[in-house]
Amino acid sequence: MFREENLLAFHEMIAPLIAEPDVQSMQHCRQHAEGISRLDHCLYVAYLSFLFCRRCKLDARSAARAGLMHDMDLRDEASVGRLRHLVSHPVMAAEAADRHGLNRLERDIILKHMWPVTLRLMPRYRESFVVNMADKVCALFEVTRLYRLFRVSRSMSYLGLLSRIERLRPAPSLAA
Ligand SMILES: [Fe+2]
Ligand SMILES: [Fe+2]
Repeated sequence: MFREENLLAFHEMIAPLIAEPDVQSMQHCRQHAEGISRLDHCLYVAYLSFLFCRRCKLDARSAARAGLMHDMDLRDEASVGRLRHLVSHPVMAAEAADRHGLNRLERDIILKHMWPVTLRLMPRYRESFVVNMADKVCALFEVTRLYRLFRVSRSMSYLGLLSRIERLRPAPSLAA
């Protein structure tokens, strides 16, 4: 799952986004369980979707980018109300993510990742179904803490991913 070529290809696709302040701000929100930030969760979803789409020759770049931003609703959940937040956060996340130039597929992925909770917003593309399912699988692993068994958190937390990528990158040549 965490093969070198997969990690490097994934990082290349999300690198322009990951340093953006709105993406970074997700580090400060807890998601589903203690010790998991919203950014960690989005990374899990993005990476799982990327792997599946890459293997099935789907649009892995759009799945990775949209997966990374699918929960990027920057409102305070407590002030919005839990139920209202549950159904409205895909629209808010799509609006926030639009600043980074979403294509049609990425917008569909973000808007419809909560289906069937959002009844009428049914995924239109195969990649949208992939991210929709990856989101549910990751949420289940996070809530039940199953991710610990697979040591996913060490590899795919935001800081864990960055340190792995740094180790994989070839050292710069000293030759002039
Ligand atoms: Fe969500
Ligand atoms: Fe999510």
